[in-house]
Amino acid sequence: MKYINKNFTIEKVKAQSLAKQFRTPIYCYSYKRLKDNINNFKKSFKSFSPLVCFAVKANANVNLIKEIRKFGLGADVVSIGELMKVLKAGINPKKIVFSGVGKTFDEISFAINKKILLINAESKSEIIQIDKIAKSKKRIVNIGIRLNPNTDAKTLSQISTGKKENKFGVDKKTFFELVKYSNKSKNIRLQCLSVHIGSQIINHLPYEKMLKIVDKIIMKANHKFEFIDLGGGMGISYKNNSKKFNYKKYNIAIKKFLINHKSKIIFEPGRSIVGNIGVLISKVIYIKENQKKNFIILDAAMNDLMRPALYGAKHQTLPVLKTTQISKKTYEFVGPICESTDKFITLKKFQKLKENDLIVICDVGAYGMSLSSNYNARPKAIEILINGSNINIIKKRQKLTDLI
Ligand code: LLP
Repeated sequence: MKYINKNFTIEKVKAQSLAKQFRTPIYCYSYKRLKDNINNFKKSFKSFSPLVCFAVKANANVNLIKEIRKFGLGADVVSIGELMKVLKAGINPKKIVFSGVGKTFDEISFAINKKILLINAESKSEIIQIDKIAKSKKRIVNIGIRLNPNTDAKTLSQISTGKKENKFGVDKKTFFELVKYSNKSKNIRLQCLSVHIGSQIINHLPYEKMLKIVDKIIMKANHKFEFIDLGGGMGISYKNNSKKFNYKKYNIAIKKFLINHKSKIIFEPGRSIVGNIGVLISKVIYIKENQKKNFIILDAAMNDLMRPALYGAKHQTLPVLKTTQISKKTYEFVGPICESTDKFITLKKFQKLKENDLIVICDVGAYGMSLSSNYNARPKAIEILINGSNINIIKKRQKLTDLI
């Protein structure tokens, strides 16, 4: 994605021509970036060839998952809906892990029927439930137990999951108790220890700390774990020149960990696979200059992209057609939704914009469309995957008639 002759271009396709052809807002993804991200991820850990299970919550587009599958990735799902989606996308059940703190009877039952690789349980009650369902089906079910390592991931508090005050996983004491329980059961086979300490993690040190804790716990549990599922969380840079996650150091720490533990590593990356592959193309509906503030009112809103409203996330915002005219005013970029938090970013010295001009909001491939909603009865945007000069509609724009 770059400017070619001052036109923002995704591979070989101009954002402007997409807007003309399909109207806005548009979620637009680059296939090349997807491919590069997957290959780089695999390369970073190639010495121990982990099973990479894409965290579907980051982007649940079935056609995109089909492309991800072709690179040999599995999937990490957190609901029956996600599980159905990845099966539809053709992911091998033996590469699917099921995470989540509140899996229902129906969800567990469906997952068992589909013979997925692992159900990663997060409480004693859940393990008892899995045990009961497995018994009624006369099956032996492979499970993992998610440990809460009480590690500060040094990320936004809203997306931190590995501290003792978070609802995720079980504490050390419960972990040992559950290992014993599982070993006694005839219907469950404990194969995995899983952890996931948070998302958008830029510093590798919390992972090192987590590995040390996991190492100690496995030694003490005295149980052979076929798999160690380290979750996802590797951060991306949302700003130019911001700090990048150090894959080399994480790789070294895992290799060191594996000297004492002969287990297969599973990863559940979401953002690092799809975060930077997508942009949201949007049009300026109106420009409004109030006494105190100036607003650029876009046709994309918080229902299309929730991250700024939900976490105060900032996404780089760029004009589709570059000019040299810079505005002296400060503008707040907002959507049309009736909420004051429906704003994307405030920018000074942005290029002068007129009504009907187009802009792109960058790095929205992860937790963009997947967090979108129909709030204010707004249809969901179209999703397009660009491969060179090929334009593939991977999901149609929702019709108003679907909503009404
Ligand atoms: N595994 C588990 C168990 C998870 O809970 C998550 C993310 C992942 C893997 C993938 O993490 P990633 O590699 O994408 O960081 N909506 C927030 C992010 C929430 C992440 C939730 N769990 C955002 O927009 O930043």
